[in-house]
Amino acid sequence: MKGRIALVTGGTRGIGAAIAIELKKSGYTVGVTYQENEESAERFRRTHQIEIFRWDVGDYEACHQGIQWVQQCLGVVDILVNNAGITRDVMFHKAIPEDWNTVIHTNLISCFNMSRVVIGGMREQNFGRIINISSINAQRGQAGQTNYCAAKAGILGFTKALALETTSKGVTVNAICPGYINTDMVQTVPQETMSKIIQQIPLRRLGEAREVARGVLFLASDEAGFVTGSTLSLNGGHYMI
Ligand SMILES: NC(=O)c1ccc[n+]([C@@H]2O[C@H](COP(=O)([O-])OP(=O)(O)OC[C@H]3O[C@@H](n4cnc5c(N)ncnc54)[C@H](OP(=O)(O)O)[C@@H]3O)[C@@H](O)[C@H]2O)c1
Repeated sequence: MKGRIALVTGGTRGIGAAIAIELKKSGYTVGVTYQENEESAERFRRTHQIEIFRWDVGDYEACHQGIQWVQQCLGVVDILVNNAGITRDVMFHKAIPEDWNTVIHTNLISCFNMSRVVIGGMREQNFGRIINISSINAQRGQAGQTNYCAAKAGILGFTKALALETTSKGVTVNAICPGYINTDMVQTVPQETMSKIIQQIPLRRLGEAREVARGVLFLASDEAGFVTGSTLSLNGGHYMI
């Protein structure tokens, strides 16, 4: 949509990058954030001519300052995609507080940090879209991912509650639960485990990042104004609820 400003966290690689590219193709003005991988961020900026911004989404003050910086460069954020996320997989009996806290901060507290800063502007202008990227593993659980599943399931509750608070203000809040998508994140899963996972997916393949991006495009659109508090499952039939 021409003129609308979209901000995608973790938008320099993987699913976030595909989301940013699709949004730009559809006429949005897009900015993306990243945390540390300067090289892939620079490559992304050069290739796609999309502005990049660096800060840790797990840090509220950094989000506050970062979004002010984005708004000075691009304008008031109309569409926020809370996509940045990490894994620190470990069986719970071996888990350490540092990993637990990092996963909760990056995947869940980031949704508070980012949304809290933009929500006032969205309410004032009577338009906004917040799209939170959760996971199939929030819906069904996954051994070795208590931290990740807790954070991603937290996102689903956050989405519904915030959606209820903003219905009268033209702001919709929705979540997407991708299944296994072919990005750097799943490359960390051992090949043998991944082959077993693919056998469990009715479509017998991983999803592509652009397939998640198409879902975001719909939820961001004016035509999706009646869709709020929902969870869109994009998982090749891997888990149906
Ligand atoms: N891939 C899957 O199968 C899958 C399935 C379900 C859900 N998801 C969710 O989809 C989202 C994207 O996943 P992906 O596979 O595209 O991940 P990815 O390829 O690992 O990319 C992650 C992106 O997030 C950024 N990021 C990480 N920590 C950050 C922080 N603290 N502050 C700011 N940016 C940060 C990274 O920046 P740097 O490049 O600087 O590190 C990168 O741009 C995540 O929330 C993930 O949990 C993925």
